[in-house]
Amino acid sequence: MSNALTAIDLFSGCGGLTEGLKQAGFTVIAGAEIRAEARQAYLMNHKKVHVFEDVRTITLERLSEYYLIKPGELDLLAACPPCQGFSTLRTLNRLKPADDDRNKLIFQVSRLAEELLPRSILVENVPGLLHDWRIDNFQRRLKKLGYRVTKGVLNAKDFGVPQRRRRMILVALRGDIDPTIPKPLAKRGITVRETIGNLPVLLDEMAAKLHSMRQQLSAGVLERVKDVPKDGGSRHHLGRERQLQCHQESDGFKDVYGRLSWDKVSSTITRFSHNPSKGRFLHPEEDRGLSLYESMLLQGFPTDYKLPTSLGTLKTSSLIGEAFPPPFARAQAEHIKVLLESLPKS
Ligand SMILES: C[S@@+](CC[C@H](N)C(=O)[O-])C[C@H]1O[C@@H](n2cnc3c(N)ncnc32)[C@H](O)[C@@H]1O
Repeated sequence: MSNALTAIDLFSGCGGLTEGLKQAGFTVIAGAEIRAEARQAYLMNHKKVHVFEDVRTITLERLSEYYLIKPGELDLLAACPPCQGFSTLRTLNRLKPADDDRNKLIFQVSRLAEELLPRSILVENVPGLLHDWRIDNFQRRLKKLGYRVTKGVLNAKDFGVPQRRRRMILVALRGDIDPTIPKPLAKRGITVRETIGNLPVLLDEMAAKLHSMRQQLSAGVLERVKDVPKDGGSRHHLGRERQLQCHQESDGFKDVYGRLSWDKVSSTITRFSHNPSKGRFLHPEEDRGLSLYESMLLQGFPTDYKLPTSLGTLKTSSLIGEAFPPPFARAQAEHIKVLLESLPKS
């Protein structure tokens, strides 16, 4: 085995977490992703990683067919389990997390922890998971395996991502050292202007295609969008009568048909960021929604990151919106690297 720290990225999606792990100097030895289109996107960028399909089928034996590793040797088991069941929308509606089978997938992380005994574990999810019984149960399972665990909510904007994005981060270390989560970087947030203000510059073919992928607005919507004030305005500036009928009845969803502000961080990029009817996803001054390329950059992906363009806007947008923004993931991985230095190797 080389000296590089090793990591496994469960629930790999299009590879945001893997990108951050690699930038922090980890060698990602395996991933797992059940959606074919996400695997396709992942492998366009991380060709050398073996990606299993269903996390539930991974065993130490199967893993060893691709990478010889003994229990206790893996440095980091990292995972972003699906989070739809714990989303803020449910919390806003005061609903309990859905009894969704996907919510149980977090226990695949503890199952694999038992089998692989990694030196550290990182889990990212929506803050709603903090108030769910599954996180307590998961934590108890890790403690029984000899891990010390900590968790908290961090904001991607404090870690070099031009976007507000609150996420639960859990870190576990096997042994006698108490883990910590990183403190916000002292730097100011990166703005929308700094990220997408110069587009279009000369884009390569892939980037140009992604930049052309946007939601077409109907004539009626476009006419209203033109009147939403530039640079941070919202549909409320239109007055009640000019809002779409469905919005006239509701005071909620304040950001719908809002514009991003040039000199602030972006609102949270979601899998629907291509669609201005789903949030503050209008360009700061052009009368259109965000392109997929802009969403990708606001998620902190490198400018030359590749995504399949034949899937259609909705599917590719969901790969982007569900990702762990690479700079945010990188900051967690760099922090864990430091923690690992004080932990004996088995
Ligand atoms: C929050 S996204 C992961 C984002 C990814 N870590 C990134 O940074 O781009 C969760 C992913 O888990 C995948 N998934 C759901 N069930 C799975 C399973 N049983 N095995 C593997 N992947 C699964 C989903 O298809 C989805 O892409």
